[in-house]
Amino acid sequence: MHQVHAQLRTWMEQAGMSVSIDAAGNLRGRYAGIAPAPPLYIGSHLDTVPHAGAFDGVLGVVLGIALVECLEQRRLKFPIEVLGFSDEEGARFGTAFLGSRALAGSLDPATLETCDADGVSIAEAIRAFGLDPAGIPEARAGEAAGYLEFHIEQGPLLESLGGPLAAVEKIVGQSRLEFVFEGHANHAGTTPLQFRRDALAAAAEWIVAVEAEPAMAPVGLVATVGRFEVAPGAANVIPATARASLDVRHPDDDVRHEAVRRLSDGARQIAARRSLSVSVRPQMDQPAVAMDPGWTEKLEHSITAAGFRAHRMSSGAGHDAMILAPQMPAAMLFLRSPGGISHHPDETVLPEDVAAALAVGLRFLEEL
Ligand code: GLV
Ligand code: MN
Ligand code: MN
Repeated sequence: MHQVHAQLRTWMEQAGMSVSIDAAGNLRGRYAGIAPAPPLYIGSHLDTVPHAGAFDGVLGVVLGIALVECLEQRRLKFPIEVLGFSDEEGARFGTAFLGSRALAGSLDPATLETCDADGVSIAEAIRAFGLDPAGIPEARAGEAAGYLEFHIEQGPLLESLGGPLAAVEKIVGQSRLEFVFEGHANHAGTTPLQFRRDALAAAAEWIVAVEAEPAMAPVGLVATVGRFEVAPGAANVIPATARASLDVRHPDDDVRHEAVRRLSDGARQIAARRSLSVSVRPQMDQPAVAMDPGWTEKLEHSITAAGFRAHRMSSGAGHDAMILAPQMPAAMLFLRSPGGISHHPDETVLPEDVAAALAVGLRFLEEL
């Protein structure tokens, strides 16, 4: 991340921005306006997932810098601040949106005590990075004109519609939880079936139920177990512990909460039937959020004015925009994802779509 910051800082400074890093690890490039005024924030995240692609997040930051570059030192009525958020994915700590929550002023200080798999807390990780978590309240945005985020779609819809760009209307809500099934290790060669308390077999039964859950729920529900660990992890030992992540999403928060309740109850029932225990630890409960209707309309105008067909869609992926939207007008522009692939090294974007997004961004600045 230090190397990413160094590279982006160079580009920001070349475009005429003054650069700082706040206590939450957000890279911030400020491009002054004609006179002091509430800034327009343009940003996305710089962190990513394991085995990721190269565009989820960072493309939105680079497009923000490119947009300022296109102004060629011309000043607007308002400042622009380009933001590279520090931790949107939650890959390390399970809690996501650390950087944008700090900016929005909605970061619960207790979150800083959350630990990663090695027992390192967020607060310790921030200090190890060279920052002081005590300064996080100062990262909060003051009065703002609003927030604009460019992001790849990460799905197949725009490609199927044959268009490069869409305005995002709504971002679905998401829950993340950790389930730990605890059984008992024993010898794989000597323990008859009726004496086993196999944590992995119990978790496997539950994971099949997680996969089946969307079929029983209203359309649009998705549920995923994306991380799984088993201990002690030897071929000849019955597993004692199975640790699984759960990610559940739906546009309707009630539907999502109901699915989480059913899957949690299901895990407890499976564990009880197999004489095991299971603990359920919620990590995130992020409500669905609508983008600002007026700004979304402006963005749609900008897409049309730049010569492209405007689509509207909702986002199944989470974005920093959903954290900032309760605090300020927020809008999001999606760029087509070839093959609908994301969170994978094959994730990509078409150069002409990036150029289209830049043209739309310039129109949007004019609209403002
Ligand atoms: C972020 O990429 C998310 O939606 O999980
Ligand atoms: Mn992502
Ligand atoms: Mn992203």
